[in-house]
Amino acid sequence: MSENNKKGRIVSGMRPTGRLHLGHYLGVLTNWVKLQNEFDCYFFVADWHALTTKFDCTENLKEDTRNVVLDWLAAGIDPEKSHIYIQSHVPQTAELHVYLSMITPQNWVERDPTLKDLAKMIRTEGENKPNVSYGLLGYPVLMAADIMTFNVDYVPVGIDQVAHIEIARDIARRFNNLYKTEFFNEAKPKLTQIPLLKGVDGQKMGKSFHNDIKISDSEEDTAKKVMKAITDRSRARKDDPGHPDKCEVAFSYWQAFADEEKIKQVQQECIAGKRGCADCKRELGALMNEKLRPIRERRKYYEEHPEIVDEIIKKGNEKAREEAEKVLQGVRKAMRMPDYR
Ligand code: TRP
Ligand code: SF4
Repeated sequence: MSENNKKGRIVSGMRPTGRLHLGHYLGVLTNWVKLQNEFDCYFFVADWHALTTKFDCTENLKEDTRNVVLDWLAAGIDPEKSHIYIQSHVPQTAELHVYLSMITPQNWVERDPTLKDLAKMIRTEGENKPNVSYGLLGYPVLMAADIMTFNVDYVPVGIDQVAHIEIARDIARRFNNLYKTEFFNEAKPKLTQIPLLKGVDGQKMGKSFHNDIKISDSEEDTAKKVMKAITDRSRARKDDPGHPDKCEVAFSYWQAFADEEKIKQVQQECIAGKRGCADCKRELGALMNEKLRPIRERRKYYEEHPEIVDEIIKKGNEKAREEAEKVLQGVRKAMRMPDYR
């Protein structure tokens, strides 16, 4: 099923959460950028999945979707190598979702552990919302449809998504058993070694915690945010010996952005009490800005050429629909659906 000489097919998606942060960049996007050289990659914005929890606040959906795509392009997802598409623009996935929802036992979706967290998100947000909608319950089935729409071999995801991929594999296996076919691959998760970048306050980095540094932040804002990063708290004066291993945020940023030699230098100077935290973070902010500059420049280029971005998405959508239709033809046939197309 693979294109050119690539090693197989991959699909992965992200919900349209708006502008992405450095955790997304280091944890997910750098991995995708590497994978696109080896695999035939489909990357999509999961706008239907967004509706499972945010069906009543869609006012920013378009803009958030756009910003996600801009950050992907900025990070180096290359439309010559990968297909970028929008989930809701591939109706074949919705059709497949209907078929899969018929063959998926109810207790498979009910036992999905991730669903409980998603349901909690709703409960805390408003009293008038139902706890779990029909669509939210079907979250893993929709995800299985995303994956099976391209009959992929691998799905690069973080550890939090593995339970979903396992349900998708069970559904693929059930399809094959029910219809006596070997049509569907059992897609495997391709775990990202997540360098879990913390927020400047030491908590998990996230937009809702107001502790994130965005790919699209200005250099000035980046530098200011880095100055707020937590350091070794036991250190009172700048010539006290420091403990890089207890410098939860600032030193972990050094490790994420600097080369071996520089990391070692920072470490030694800190331990020797030859490095004040304020100076250290000033230098760190400058380094991060330097590393992010080409990415931010690329983002700016695409922001200034919206027609190019439109074209990339349209082309990605078309290719995705074309490949999806091929898979759906096989599905309808295996299921012996009437076909007068
Ligand atoms: N559930 C994923 C998340 O929240 C997004 C997603 C939806 C996805 N469908 C997918 C990821 C299919 C990989 C494959 O991050
Ligand atoms: Fe952290 Fe740098 Fe301060 Fe050492 S000098 S504690 S590495 S910020």
